[in-house]
Amino acid sequence: MTSWLSRIFSVARFVRSGNASPSARRPSPLSRVGRQGVAFLAIAVSSARAEDTFFAKRVTPILEQKCVVCHGAEKQKGKLRLDSFAHLMRGGEGGPAVTAGDPKGSELFVRVTLHPEDEDFMPADSKPPLTPDEVKVLELWIAAGASEVIALAAIKGAPALAAPKAAVLPLAPDWRARAPQIAQLEKALGIRLVPRSMVATDGLVLRTASSPGRCDDTTLAKLAPVADLIVEAELARTKITDAGLAVVGTFVNLRVLDLTRTAVTSTGLNDLLALKNLETLNLTATAVDDSGVAALRQMASIKQTWVFETKAGGADNPTAAAKK
Ligand code: HEC
Repeated sequence: MTSWLSRIFSVARFVRSGNASPSARRPSPLSRVGRQGVAFLAIAVSSARAEDTFFAKRVTPILEQKCVVCHGAEKQKGKLRLDSFAHLMRGGEGGPAVTAGDPKGSELFVRVTLHPEDEDFMPADSKPPLTPDEVKVLELWIAAGASEVIALAAIKGAPALAAPKAAVLPLAPDWRARAPQIAQLEKALGIRLVPRSMVATDGLVLRTASSPGRCDDTTLAKLAPVADLIVEAELARTKITDAGLAVVGTFVNLRVLDLTRTAVTSTGLNDLLALKNLETLNLTATAVDDSGVAALRQMASIKQTWVFETKAGGADNPTAAAKK
């Protein structure tokens, strides 16, 4: 309970308990205080604490994230500020931004629901538009009276807030610092080192598919300068052997490894035990057997191994493709 609210409670209690105070001897002002106390109390229970209001919890974050850059303390485009309830209600050049109870009659709602190509569409300048869920939140709030104090729980059916993005862990160092080296290696070795995503710390995918026959143990050895950047290695049908796996064992950030139809054996797999992030391993049509695969499956990071067409888990056994 907030302190002002408990103060009201104690006033109300004091009023009801009556004669303890000297002012109790003057009944008429006291009974006036009493009525005020009760009236206050009624307001206090029907509205929520400021931080638990729908406006604070659901509406404000949307406006702050998508609108306040242009409608805040620094810029007031269209003479409109959206960084507080009072400003929002005051509106801008064109008058009030919101008409309580009437989303479609509210400029703020109309602007975010126009066709994105419309010149009046908000946010302006191709800034990230509201998501359908965010639009729905604004609609429900305006329809429910555009109140600053209505409780979070009082508006039913509002879509859940998008979970805050989990901090993205880097999978590998930023590859951009080594872009010239990467380009040089691609050219010299006839392989590709492709960024896994737009995120520069998501690592590189080693691709050999255009000419797997050109990739052998020597090729892999030459990748030492980018060993820590490779998170996926597509080595299917290459000429690599167990000697090459010793090099692969130095790709410390490797998560996905495809060794389909290569000459690797269970002996070579031992070098992979050093790869603490390895999740997916394809050993289809290799010479591996249970002796090598069993140890790998004990690795904490491993989620999936494929051993089709091998002696592991029984030759030609369809269950040889297994989770763990
Ligand atoms: C990149 C800057 C920019 C962003 C971001 C932006 N606006 Fe605007 N907004 C403008 C400009 C410029 C105007 C004035 C021109 C006009 O009326 O279209 C304006 C005008 C408005 C008006 C009309 C004000 C009036 O009274 O004339 C409303 C309502 C509005 N914006 C709502 C929003 C909402 C809601 C958001 C967030 C979802 C938003 N804007 C985000 C630039 C922006």
